[in-house]
Amino acid sequence: SEARAQGGSAFSFPEVEAGVDADHHVAEGYDADVLLRWGDRLFADSPEFDPTAQTAEAQRRQFGYNNDFVGFVPLEGATDRGLLCVNHEYTNEHLMFPGIVTVKDGEVTVKDADGPRVDIEMAAHGGTVVEIRRNAAGKWEVVLDGPMNRRITADTPMEIRGPAAGHARMQTPDDPTGTRVLGTINNCAGGITPWGTYIMAEENIYGYFMGELPAGHKEAANYERLGIPGSTYAWGRFHDRFDVSKQPNEPNRFGWIVEVDVMDPNSVPKKRTALGRFKHEGAESVVAKDGRVVFYLGDDERFDYVYKFVTAGRFNPDDRAANMDLLDEGTLYVARFDEDGSMEWLPLIHGQGPLTAANGFDSQADVLIETRRAADLLEATPMDRPEDIQPNPAAGRAYVMLTNNTKREEADAANPRAKNAFGHIIEIIEDGQDFTATTGRWEILLQCGDPSVAEVGATFSTETTANGWFGMPDNAAVDAEGRLWVSTDGNSPSDTGRTDGLWAVDTEGEARGTSRLFYRVPVGAELCGPCPTADMTTFFVAVQHPGDGGEDWDGHGRPSFYEDLSTRWPDFDEAMPVRPAVVAITRQGGGRIGSA
Ligand code: FEO
Ligand code: CA
Ligand code: CA
Ligand code: CA
Repeated sequence: SEARAQGGSAFSFPEVEAGVDADHHVAEGYDADVLLRWGDRLFADSPEFDPTAQTAEAQRRQFGYNNDFVGFVPLEGATDRGLLCVNHEYTNEHLMFPGIVTVKDGEVTVKDADGPRVDIEMAAHGGTVVEIRRNAAGKWEVVLDGPMNRRITADTPMEIRGPAAGHARMQTPDDPTGTRVLGTINNCAGGITPWGTYIMAEENIYGYFMGELPAGHKEAANYERLGIPGSTYAWGRFHDRFDVSKQPNEPNRFGWIVEVDVMDPNSVPKKRTALGRFKHEGAESVVAKDGRVVFYLGDDERFDYVYKFVTAGRFNPDDRAANMDLLDEGTLYVARFDEDGSMEWLPLIHGQGPLTAANGFDSQADVLIETRRAADLLEATPMDRPEDIQPNPAAGRAYVMLTNNTKREEADAANPRAKNAFGHIIEIIEDGQDFTATTGRWEILLQCGDPSVAEVGATFSTETTANGWFGMPDNAAVDAEGRLWVSTDGNSPSDTGRTDGLWAVDTEGEARGTSRLFYRVPVGAELCGPCPTADMTTFFVAVQHPGDGGEDWDGHGRPSFYEDLSTRWPDFDEAMPVRPAVVAITRQGGGRIGSA
């Protein structure tokens, strides 16, 4: 291609101009079609979306709010038919419900939540599994009578599995066995396993809990490390399990990796405690040379850690059922990045090193329930908010998105900028290109931000245009050709004159560090879930919270109202609110995305 000839880039497409307006934009020659919006019907019997008369019952049959992770599981090997798996991370009440926020004479009034509203919020959380197929015109559409279609919500019964299942710290008045829990919350990124199950990562669980622990409660330090109770949502006023004064162990049942068997719509999702408990960003996986499966896990908090989990058993490509409990047994490791560019994966195993009764760990269950404290004691490297971590199977490498950390006072080798406002990307090179290795090397692929501002210290290649740089890497994908795509969260128009989007990032040869803008979101949105299909003819992306005013008001963004929104994406209809939506990007006339 022309691009390759010029700079050795693995990508070829006309770059989008960075900027900000009410609509989304994709590279010329491509279509970006809205596939699923908040409130869209998922079943033949789903009610039509009515934003002025929403109910929890309707919401349980409709697409949920704030789509984040997107996965695609092909059905019967087809490239034009499959199950779309989408996380619904959280809800923005001020954007969802008319009349929640009013401003009179500069005075902001927020209407108190009531029980019905809380139940809608709970039903808008969780995930969606829905069959989609390509029609004769080559466009994706939802199959309303798909037999595997299901909604997962904050009330869906789930099983707790692995070393922490049944432990006394997991038991509650509603569940004296410590093995059954209702629902999953704040599912950020995730993954599709090699055996075709859907992983939902529970991230910012703290905001759903309120109340005060009884004085001197044994979980006080555990909860403080996770910011519990965060009291962002009012759920605890209507449901005792979200009030820690009433059910003090309930938060121990959240903050896990959840696995869903999407081929059986009645399957009970499993919380896999072997993968640890923290603010799980996602869980992208790869089959190692010896058949064990490796999951990369970020803990998205300033100064928290990068983890990986290696299954004890081996993946069996010929027997799906044999893989279904691989996530119950294995070793969880946390990363130490050394100054000389080497690294070590430190195992979190009860009884080894400091992880003993002397430090309050009586069992592996204790190590997993307080994963962060165990990792502190192992002296893992505190990072600048580890988000999605994406393995590149052919290269034996993995890319770590580190979104930002303005609170960092002192730089170190792996977090090389103090007051890191724009984040960076680390490339992990596992020893022997073996994903199960406990040692490796690492390099900084990119320091993000505007390269034209010297103080920022960005390291994009000189081939990168004024449109091509980005800050705040969040989610990532490696496509079938081994190429890296990065989506962002937080490129605010007021600071940078650009919205979030999807960037194509070269990792090989002379072009390494070159980035180009492929797609950008409407004002107020962030971009999540970049999911290329295996044949590279479709790129699914998730546009989250379009029209939101930012994070500086009550933790929920500035007040926005139906009457005063900067965009009405995607409907541009005065009777409709802004709606988070999944978008399918295809090439006009067909063909592989991003290639000449
Ligand atoms: Fe939900 Fe770390 O972003
Ligand atoms: Ca994220
Ligand atoms: Ca990813
Ligand atoms: Ca995000």
